[in-house]
Amino acid sequence: MSQNKNNNTVWNTRIKKKTSNIFKKVGSSIKVDKRLYKEDILASISHAEMLYKQKIITIKIKDKILWGLKRIQNEIEKKNFKFDEGLEDIHMNIENRLFELIGNDAGYLHSARSRNDQVVTDLKLWLKKSTVEIDSLLLKLIKSLIKISEKNIFSIMPGFTHLKNAQPISLAHYFLSNVEMFKRDRFRFSSNMKSLNQNPLGASAFSGTSFNIDRWYTTKKLKFEEPTNNSLDTVSDRDFVLDFLYSSSICSMHISRIAEELIIWNSDQFKFINLKDNIVTGSSIMPQKKNPDTLEFLRGKTGSIFGNLFSMLTIVKGLPISYFKDLQDDKDLVFRSFDNLKNCLIIFDEVINGIIVNKKAMLDAAKIGFTTATDFADALVKNMNFSFREAYMLTAKVVNFAERKNLALNEIGHEDLKKIVPKISVDVMKNLDLRNSVNSKKSYGGTSFENIKKMIRKHKKEIK
Ligand code: ARG
Repeated sequence: MSQNKNNNTVWNTRIKKKTSNIFKKVGSSIKVDKRLYKEDILASISHAEMLYKQKIITIKIKDKILWGLKRIQNEIEKKNFKFDEGLEDIHMNIENRLFELIGNDAGYLHSARSRNDQVVTDLKLWLKKSTVEIDSLLLKLIKSLIKISEKNIFSIMPGFTHLKNAQPISLAHYFLSNVEMFKRDRFRFSSNMKSLNQNPLGASAFSGTSFNIDRWYTTKKLKFEEPTNNSLDTVSDRDFVLDFLYSSSICSMHISRIAEELIIWNSDQFKFINLKDNIVTGSSIMPQKKNPDTLEFLRGKTGSIFGNLFSMLTIVKGLPISYFKDLQDDKDLVFRSFDNLKNCLIIFDEVINGIIVNKKAMLDAAKIGFTTATDFADALVKNMNFSFREAYMLTAKVVNFAERKNLALNEIGHEDLKKIVPKISVDVMKNLDLRNSVNSKKSYGGTSFENIKKMIRKHKKEIK
């Protein structure tokens, strides 16, 4: 039996008074951690099989336990399982039901195990699975970004620094910069696998166990790579939780930065892009409005995803090395970050596929703000042997002249130009063309059209 006469639950055997009602309610984690039922059952099955292999339990008991656990899984999946808040968490709920189903033999399952190693085992298994899920969403998003890049190799836009027009670039160069960000996210999430692949099961309460267990056996069964090295660290470590929350934060920050940019591009002042109707919403009072709510949602969600990281950092900050109840909140934070990030990645992919590029508005904007001034200075260096600093100062004079006369750089007459840069040839003017400017940035990683095509090919090959 997992219950005694005095109180509700087995671990309260020595405690004579009922647990405070309010604490029983708010201290219970079942509403959150029932999401770990599959992992909990899987880990229990491996544990029972290991106990049998090591002759700690008999085959009869092992078979009964396995039968009971599989039945419980079935009940939960068919929604026939009654979760009980009084039983605190998923581990006790399952154990309690096992007692109901197979009687006192259920009590053999918890030999050489504690909820302290059980809970980290479950959570690591869950995070391994969820990291793979996030990775496939990231991959899908990267494919969409490559698709929109391919369509916009020759779409020219003003690149900004300080949100002021700076130099022309290809729009594909922008979206390929996003690809790099999400590629780093994939790398960051996959790097977390190293510690997620260390099996906590067998650390027991925190000091290990006197039973002759085989931790390599459960490691293999549960598809971990190796057992953790120190039982005390194992029950106390939540670095793998922080890794996930941090990786989620960075990924969500990436989405947020791009969302912000797209909101600006979608504004009536910029008009660089329109958004398809499935990703905008209307206003309850202004009938004309089509608002980029999806993008604002994505930007906003970063707040709670960052918050979860900071909550977890704060929880572990002053915690002595071992298991403490404080740690119970880790799962809520992980699940909330996962759910939010997953939704964000799906929505963001829809947004990328719902962008209608206004190529003319982008090109027109690129003509404003003397965006080819750097090209002009470069040409003075290359064609006339000026140092870059001399060329910079002469170009600044040319820009001043153009500004005074309300002209674009390529509208300045040759005679006027010669007054500022004596002996300047007409050739230099070629560099003031936007397309030539973009295409001249042939340095590795630059915005030239051939570079972009090369990068697209490279990305496509990598994700095959
Ligand atoms: N529900 C607990 C948690 O999520 C499980 C571990 C409980 N261990 C303990 N010694 N109270 O952290």
